[in-house]
Amino acid sequence: MIQIAVLGCGTVASGVIRLLRKNGDNIEKQLGKKIVLKKVLARTPEKARKLGLREDQICGNAEEILTDPEISVVVELIGGTDDAYRYITAAMNAGKHVVTANKDLIASRYRELTETADKNRVLLAFEASVGGGIPIVDPIRRTLAANEIRSIYGILNGTTNYILTRMTRDGMSYEDALRQAQELGYAEADPTSDVEGGDAARKIAILSTLAFHTPVAYEDVSHEGISGLTKTDIAFADRSGYVFKLLAVAQKSDGGCEVYVRPALLPKTHPLAAVSDAFNAVFINGDAVGEIMLYGRGAGSMPTASSVVGDLMSVVKESEAGRFGPSHKLPRIPVSGIGETPHVYYIRLAVEDRPLVLANVARVFGEYGVSLASLVQEERGNDGAELMIFTHASSENSVSGAMRALEGLDCVYNGAYRICLEETKSTTHRLSPDGL
Ligand code: HSE
Repeated sequence: MIQIAVLGCGTVASGVIRLLRKNGDNIEKQLGKKIVLKKVLARTPEKARKLGLREDQICGNAEEILTDPEISVVVELIGGTDDAYRYITAAMNAGKHVVTANKDLIASRYRELTETADKNRVLLAFEASVGGGIPIVDPIRRTLAANEIRSIYGILNGTTNYILTRMTRDGMSYEDALRQAQELGYAEADPTSDVEGGDAARKIAILSTLAFHTPVAYEDVSHEGISGLTKTDIAFADRSGYVFKLLAVAQKSDGGCEVYVRPALLPKTHPLAAVSDAFNAVFINGDAVGEIMLYGRGAGSMPTASSVVGDLMSVVKESEAGRFGPSHKLPRIPVSGIGETPHVYYIRLAVEDRPLVLANVARVFGEYGVSLASLVQEERGNDGAELMIFTHASSENSVSGAMRALEGLDCVYNGAYRICLEETKSTTHRLSPDGL
């Protein structure tokens, strides 16, 4: 028998407790021993009672767990960074293995946490910190370890993917779709980190750390969200054969890596374009494996519990085998935001509808070396119009410079919007003969 404790009694913790109960026999068969849930740290004991826990299992004080020599694995599911960091560190210093779903913590303090684990010869597992129920941390760390990973493209936030799906399929407004995502429980307590890209930035920081063997922290990842998108953009993209997605991107560059989150247009034929509702997916390009895509539920009680309990079982097996993983002293390589590789851009401008406006707009683009591929104008009444523009492949710097200059023109109203088109990164959707 192995005795464990769970810190927290929220959505994921309740999934873990239910899963251990439901599949306990199967888990015991695989491990050759029983996992016994000795304690659950619950700030609201009533919640724990509702999960069918006995009084002696419910505890209100983390110390009781952290100092209990019989508990050999602590499962941290309280979230946040302060208490969680203290508890995880104390548990590892007390010789306990730790399983966590805490993306905030792993994305900001990976190096310290793994050093503490190494120092104490304990295991720290965090599969559930990215992509909920999708196996992604372990595949990158083990199954794909022989590859040089060239790029990762992820749809890593269910809330924004749900919003974009509803706006595209049902013509819903951004505000209505966000409200529905919150009602369905996809969004974080404060949805800002979902819609402004912070949640996806934390997840891609973790994946790029593992894929590129260098510490990438949340603070290193530039991010931009979807709150500037309108129904006009969505409808125009749809007519043009594209869909909007919030993409988390990590790719190798000369001597370093580019890691960023931003809305992107994908051709409808791209495999990631088909990932809808609150689903997540990760599209990886490795030099040996080629392109692979992992898809599934990125959040939710039972899908996330699937990853947590899977980690728990691996920790039990590996600790018995004395496998404590490699040392994590990773060399630091430069991490930057989006580089200068040219991309096609979609740009929406609200402008006055009078002579010479188009000529002035075209002149500014020309001055920054941005060549226009197509332009559609739609009337907006009151002498106003909206311009929807596709550029030819241009660098981020040139487009940003042109946008700043355009916003300074009297004939351009506030709220200019630009978005990058990720067209050339997948080969599978172009059906090349050898897939590479
Ligand atoms: N708020 C997150 C999402 C939940 O929408 O994907 C999982 O991290």
